Amino acid sequence: MGNPLFATKSIDSLLTEAGDTGEHSLKRALGPVNLVTLGIGAIIGAGIFVLTGSAASLYAGPAIMLSYVLAGIGCVFAGLCYAEFASMIPIAGSAYTYGYATLGELVAWIIGWDLILEYAFGAATVASGWSSTLVAFLQDYGISLPPEICDVPGAKWVEYEGRWSPESAVSLSADQLAGLPHATCAFNLVAFLAILGVTTILIIGIKESANFNSVVVFVKLAAVLTFIAVALPFVLKHPAIAHENWKVFLPPNTGSFGSFGWSGVMRGASVVFFAYIGFDAVSTAAQEAKNPQKDMPIGLLGSLIVCTILYIVVSGLLTATVHYSHLNIGAPVSLAIRQTGVKWGSYVINAGALAGLSTVMLVMLLGQSRVFYSMANDGLLWKWAGDIHPRFRTPWKSTAIVGVLVAIVGSLVPIGTLGQLVSIGTLFAFVIVCAGVWVLRVRRPELVRPFRTPWVPFVPIMGILISLALIASLNALTIVRLFVWLGIGLVVYFTYSVRHSKVRNSGGQ
Ligand code: ALA
Repeated sequence: MGNPLFATKSIDSLLTEAGDTGEHSLKRALGPVNLVTLGIGAIIGAGIFVLTGSAASLYAGPAIMLSYVLAGIGCVFAGLCYAEFASMIPIAGSAYTYGYATLGELVAWIIGWDLILEYAFGAATVASGWSSTLVAFLQDYGISLPPEICDVPGAKWVEYEGRWSPESAVSLSADQLAGLPHATCAFNLVAFLAILGVTTILIIGIKESANFNSVVVFVKLAAVLTFIAVALPFVLKHPAIAHENWKVFLPPNTGSFGSFGWSGVMRGASVVFFAYIGFDAVSTAAQEAKNPQKDMPIGLLGSLIVCTILYIVVSGLLTATVHYSHLNIGAPVSLAIRQTGVKWGSYVINAGALAGLSTVMLVMLLGQSRVFYSMANDGLLWKWAGDIHPRFRTPWKSTAIVGVLVAIVGSLVPIGTLGQLVSIGTLFAFVIVCAGVWVLRVRRPELVRPFRTPWVPFVPIMGILISLALIASLNALTIVRLFVWLGIGLVVYFTYSVRHSKVRNSGGQ
């Protein structure tokens, strides 16, 4: 046996694990449609409904469409690699398991730990966004929640024109702000309860979770399609407005990197990349798919392609309807539909955003508990994290504990920096998955691959390069935070996991 840090888990034992159907295994209940909707459930959320506006306004102008194309291409390359692995090794651990099978235990641990950034922090980030969306949505109907329970401790809110909102969201001078009624927030109870709500659904059952997801995905798709159905004829009927808004498609760079021009398109891509995060979570449902070999690639690539097309169309119509300089606001899509004169449209969009964010939380938490389940089964995490509820057939302990921790993080920590950590965590996992596909093709060319990534190594290399370029466009502090996070993970690995690893104790490969 070589260095145990690089011991790999044998593909044969993984396939045996994947074939387990007993009472203590996950329940195979999902078909291809469930998997595509699960992907869309995780993908469409704060990214398209919120970030598109600020990214267009601050970095790329109407060329934000190109940012979406670029980030989408990077995701498709990574998605093709995920599809090969997910059909070949249909195990709930996703990138963590693929890493274990190809690059060894240490890399697998790093990826498993890194995926916490994507899934757990992702759900916490989106919970915060969900709470602000709910507050705005209810205020449209004249209902005000007490601001003290709607944001993180210490956040300052003001009441302006009959609506409560964060002080930073009101564009008034300091003197004008001082004259408004103020409140200091204590705890984001709304975000906390939202996470506990989706956690309960996840514990009750995978089929129940998938059904809830499908209904809600329908609402958010209806909202996105309503926007397209209203904005497209508007743009065609008013070519002068669209022409004016798009006259400068790629605003010239202002002199600093990332502020318009081509570097702005790149910075925009690293921001709107967040909008694509989540399609990979489909692969964590591999042990709950009825026919993973065939359906995993459909779920992963189907959801990704649908969303890529919608994003490019929506971002184009958004900047054609409203000048990009006016889009740095919390609800840009809702503003754009109001601009077309269709007032009811903004209610549909706000309802869609609310629905959209709730399924993102659901699928992210699903992904996190499944990764923990796989790590616990391998002995790298505490055994209880792999316990399956005998009736619900879900990893209920890891789901409950992850749910409570995420609820606490989401209700106490401001979302600003969490979002970037989520992006870097995801991009890092993409790099490992792309590299893993290539490594396994070289080391084990004979393995049966129900889905084969085309043009290996070109596709994995492009997936790696685009992910690294997007990482480089994030701010330097985020990169430092990633390393600090991985450092904490290594402490856990060397103090607990090395002593309990099943692969090490059985001799490894
Ligand atoms: N893609 C998800 C969103 O945009 C994370 O909310």
